[in-house]
Amino acid sequence: MKIIHLTDPHVRAHGECVRTVDTATRFAAVVDDVARRHADADLVVVTGDLVGDREPASYALFRDLIGRIRAPVRLLMGNHDRRALFRAAFPDHPIDADGFIQSCLDAPGPQGRLLFLDSLEEGSIGGRLCDRRLAWIAARLAEAGDRPVTVFLHHPPLSVGVPHFVNICLHDPEGFLALLRAHRGGIRHIFFGHIHIPVSGVYPGGLPYTAARGSAHQILLDFDTDAVAWASGKANYNLIDLGEDRLAVHSFDFLNDELIARGPPCAGP
Ligand SMILES: [Fe+2]
Repeated sequence: MKIIHLTDPHVRAHGECVRTVDTATRFAAVVDDVARRHADADLVVVTGDLVGDREPASYALFRDLIGRIRAPVRLLMGNHDRRALFRAAFPDHPIDADGFIQSCLDAPGPQGRLLFLDSLEEGSIGGRLCDRRLAWIAARLAEAGDRPVTVFLHHPPLSVGVPHFVNICLHDPEGFLALLRAHRGGIRHIFFGHIHIPVSGVYPGGLPYTAARGSAHQILLDFDTDAVAWASGKANYNLIDLGEDRLAVHSFDFLNDELIARGPPCAGP
């Protein structure tokens, strides 16, 4: 299964910038590149912060931009999103029985089940999965049984070791992580955004994760301070190659970069 992981587009209507970055133009470049290179994608997932300013016009612009991609799309909530505005713009997008923007999808055969979670707690930068959302997750994991599960959400469930984000990950994540660790079929991977930094690792209990950098403003790594330094950087998206017995994540980081050379295939040895 070929999955495109986009995150944190922070789209704003009317040409408004976020920290000098024209996020709508950036995201337009990303969706056009995805449409051109990955017309065979089985799924596109956007892990939240769809818009930057909680404005209906920005959701309308985001809807127009993501509509350039013909593959099926799942959209998640980030801390900059608002469910009511999202649902007004995307009335047909799957939600759970409580109105949270949560859904699942069963990949073919042993590739397993995909869970798309809603970690937004409105009014908070960090995320939360309340008891109702945890009950939904527990039910979907029980249905998956022996099949492995791949998880998408906006917030990192735990710190990724960068000081600035220590207090704005998923609040009170223990119940969620316990559910994942107890899943009989195993957790193949957790994908998230929120931090605007690319990072991969393994959480305690053997839970592997990858964060995409996203298409909007970027954050410079600094492990000596919990203050934050922003940079404009370049747009990014990831390609997830989800096979039956393999999972690879490829980063597309050089949109519109200058090509400096081409060469023949390498025959080895
Ligand atoms: Fe963000």
